[in-house]
Amino acid sequence: MDIAKRRGIIYPSFEIYGGVSGFYDYGPVGIRIKQNIERIIRDYFILKENCFEIDSPVLNPEAIWVASGHVENFADKLTQCMKCGEPYRADHLVEEKTKKQADHLGIRELNELIEELGIKCPRCGGKLGEVYDYNLMFHTFIGPGMKKESAYLRPETAQTTYISFRRLWEIGRKKLPLGVFQIGKSFRNEISPRQGMIRLREFYQAEIQFFVDPEKKESEKFDDVREIEVEIITKDDEKFRISLNDAVEDEVIKTQMIAYFLGRSFQLFERMGINPKRLRFRQHKDDERAFYSSDTWDIEFISNNFGRIELVGISDRTDYDLRAHMELSGQDMNINYNGKKFIPHVIEIAYGIDRPFYCVIESCYTSEKDRKYFRFPEDVAPYSAAVFPLVNKDGLDKKALEVFNFITDNGIYAVYDKSGSIGRRYARADEIGIPKCITIDYETMENDTVTIRDRDTRRQIRVKMNEICKAL
Ligand code: GAP
Repeated sequence: MDIAKRRGIIYPSFEIYGGVSGFYDYGPVGIRIKQNIERIIRDYFILKENCFEIDSPVLNPEAIWVASGHVENFADKLTQCMKCGEPYRADHLVEEKTKKQADHLGIRELNELIEELGIKCPRCGGKLGEVYDYNLMFHTFIGPGMKKESAYLRPETAQTTYISFRRLWEIGRKKLPLGVFQIGKSFRNEISPRQGMIRLREFYQAEIQFFVDPEKKESEKFDDVREIEVEIITKDDEKFRISLNDAVEDEVIKTQMIAYFLGRSFQLFERMGINPKRLRFRQHKDDERAFYSSDTWDIEFISNNFGRIELVGISDRTDYDLRAHMELSGQDMNINYNGKKFIPHVIEIAYGIDRPFYCVIESCYTSEKDRKYFRFPEDVAPYSAAVFPLVNKDGLDKKALEVFNFITDNGIYAVYDKSGSIGRRYARADEIGIPKCITIDYETMENDTVTIRDRDTRRQIRVKMNEICKAL
């Protein structure tokens, strides 16, 4: 995190005004990494799963969130210190004390546990108040004066996809499954975001809604992920390693489509550079699952700094959302398909972007005797190359700029650096995970060749200037 702040990967927002927890800026280097992570997810779902991409407003009229059930149910359990007023998520306080998962417990159980375990305000030791439901949505208004309309900042992208279902159904020429991808910001007024960029109040989601026939929740491409073997935790807290093939055959994962997208997500995370040995699949407990879901599986990363981090949630949302919008809006969500009339079911794959971003950073951080750096995969690294003149004289700097312009003209993201010793420049490039460094030296002036140095092995090769792009 020290490198991240110092080198412009991420840093807390609003720093000069003292900061507000739950908000982070992506700096100039971080934004490149974030876009690469988004691209890996987007390319997969658009190119390989033939999804449509849409982009809807983040500010939504109240009706959407009344229909979806969020106004009534989208709440966490809040307790406040009666002495200093500090707010806490009651389940997190219990979890810290017992070291056991507590996000499925109800108000009564949490009040009892706080009493029994003698949990006090971690800040001042004061007595904690009664636990109550606290709605996580940011409320605001659209328009002025008496005509203003109650509105919310969306806490998930999903609903803005559902309300366009009829239109998308027509645009998609009435075929199932219909996959719709949306990436953008979501907002949650989290109670006490004390975990850096893991729990944000404004964050990115990439959510895919697959509208499917309720009787067809299989995947034609399941063979591609069958063999993946991972650690699984079931809703009854059973923990074991199993292949996706066996998990489906033994009905540990009941819906093949959920198993398929768990497998695909596992592959995507691995491609981003997240350590696959730290990933596991966890099924939500019956009393933990969101109100709209009949079955939910998360992929979690076990972090050195933050314990378990949920990266993606894959849910069978049944026809809950479409039916709810049909009831409130009056628009018919039934379709006629293959001789049947029904409301499609939804299988949702809900990725956060910021959390995988953090896990990429944690997984790729490498500490060697003489250097600390990020071992990002090439298509996640902020830049593909750094270009250096060995010295800033005898025309080497001019030639290096020519090389830099040549490769950026060819669409390769690169940085040009001419300050300090060559060793320091290599170290600076390694630190932010740039995979290749191109150096222009005296030999370049004689035969138009440059050296390309590899970040991980530090080995160098010589290539002709006009072959740099191919070599990279
Ligand atoms: N539409 C379903 C949905 O929103 P979720 O499990 O609440 O499901 C999906 O969120 C993903 O969004 C999570 O797996 C996580 O990666 C990300 N996410 C949720 N809340 C977040 C927060 N406060 N900060 C950062 N990421 C968050």
